[in-house]
Amino acid sequence: MGTEVVRRVAIVTGAGSTGGLGKAIARALARAGNVAVVNDLEEASAGETAKKLIEEGYEAFPVAADVSDAEAVEGMVAEVLNRFNRIDILVNCVGIRTKALISEIKADEIDRVLAVNLTSVILCTNAVAGIMKRQQFGRVVSIGSTAGRRGGGEYMTSTSIYSAAKAGIGGFSRSAARELGPFGITVNVVAPFLIDVPGRSHRRPPEMVEEMLRNIPMRRLGTPEDVAAAVAFLASDAASYITGVELDVNGGWHMEG
Ligand SMILES: NC(=O)c1ccc[n+]([C@@H]2O[C@H](COP(=O)([O-])OP(=O)(O)OC[C@H]3O[C@@H](n4cnc5c(N)ncnc54)[C@H](O)[C@@H]3O)[C@@H](O)[C@H]2O)c1
Repeated sequence: MGTEVVRRVAIVTGAGSTGGLGKAIARALARAGNVAVVNDLEEASAGETAKKLIEEGYEAFPVAADVSDAEAVEGMVAEVLNRFNRIDILVNCVGIRTKALISEIKADEIDRVLAVNLTSVILCTNAVAGIMKRQQFGRVVSIGSTAGRRGGGEYMTSTSIYSAAKAGIGGFSRSAARELGPFGITVNVVAPFLIDVPGRSHRRPPEMVEEMLRNIPMRRLGTPEDVAAAVAFLASDAASYITGVELDVNGGWHMEG
């Protein structure tokens, strides 16, 4: 009689082909032996990532849903549960930015940025928490940002609402970590600085990138794989005693004592 190996099921939101970091996170989790449930807004986008992972030999399953919408989140979780009978890992990776200045931003845009960046994290965690409690196992990892740690905006027009949402993820996660810890569930945040997503670096002028690099001790921008490695660790069985942390993935650009 061998020990039964549990095949863990991991939902990664915002992991469709249209996303930057989510795809790498889904791949890292799949490589670690988990089933990668790929969420994104559009079926085509979620389907493309899932197809690619399956072609690479991993187990993946696409689920389209707008995770800022409570009903859609319930539907997504029900579909995954129906298919796999468990949900072990949730990675909250969706995010949108706004460039509007505080003096100019309109209420509906504020609502949208908070809903997609923060409410989605709360809704998704809420929807899986009961399942994870019954399993007495769970891993929730949300993607924050240095913008939520120390304020953003140095390299972008304005990130105040985005920063508010990202800081909110930190507060939410620490409280959820306290509440869910007794059930074997850890709740953590991975906070990247600017990540060099292939095809996007051209958006920033070279002088700006040079200045950033002077201030990053590791002398390079981060990659989606850097973020994915941190998430995969926090989502692993090995990280069972780490909860309520915000793990900076920023090459040392921002350090907290
Ligand atoms: N890229 C960076 O440099 C960087 C740095 C720090 C933090 N982050 C954070 O990392 C996360 C991923 O960033 P990214 O650069 O990959 O973003 P991205 O814009 O490339 O991808 C986000 C994905 O989420 C999807 N999405 C958006 N709204 C959704 C919704 N309501 N429901 C379901 N899917 C939705 C989009 O379709 C897209 O595929 C975000 O939370 C972002 O704030 C990114």
